[in-house]
Amino acid sequence: MKVAVGNDHAGVELKWTLMEHLAEIGVEAENLGVDTEASMDYPDIAAKVGRAVAGGEADLGVLICGTGIGVCLAANKVRGVRAAPCCFEYHARMAREHNHANVCCVGARVIGPELAKAIVTEFVRTPVSDAERHVRRRRKVEALETQ
Ligand code: RB5
Repeated sequence: MKVAVGNDHAGVELKWTLMEHLAEIGVEAENLGVDTEASMDYPDIAAKVGRAVAGGEADLGVLICGTGIGVCLAANKVRGVRAAPCCFEYHARMAREHNHANVCCVGARVIGPELAKAIVTEFVRTPVSDAERHVRRRRKVEALETQ
């Protein structure tokens, strides 16, 4: 499995923590974020990660900004992306299982590094549910992209 990781200036430190953690749990991670704390615009990174996931270059994405909100809003504008803001492991598990999320968004100013690691672990390890109701709902979400 390959995970595209992206961050704005607020998420540099957490990005390195999560990159290292992903390697430790045997997941290949590609750094598509910024490496300095110079102010930049989160939609640019969300687009990069979103396109990598939607285009199939990465299986999943992890996005980090101050709150996790800006990158989530922006990533969800990329067709094929289902980005979810995750503050708890339960969010991450349900986002995968029920919502078939393919991008996990976390806020570096909201949660600590240990919780962020646990959330990302849960996200990459939880398979999507193929229960008919979840597939049907995901398809309805996808249909909104063309309406
Ligand atoms: C940057 O200050 C901050 O606005 C950004 O990281 C993010 O939290 C936006 O949603």
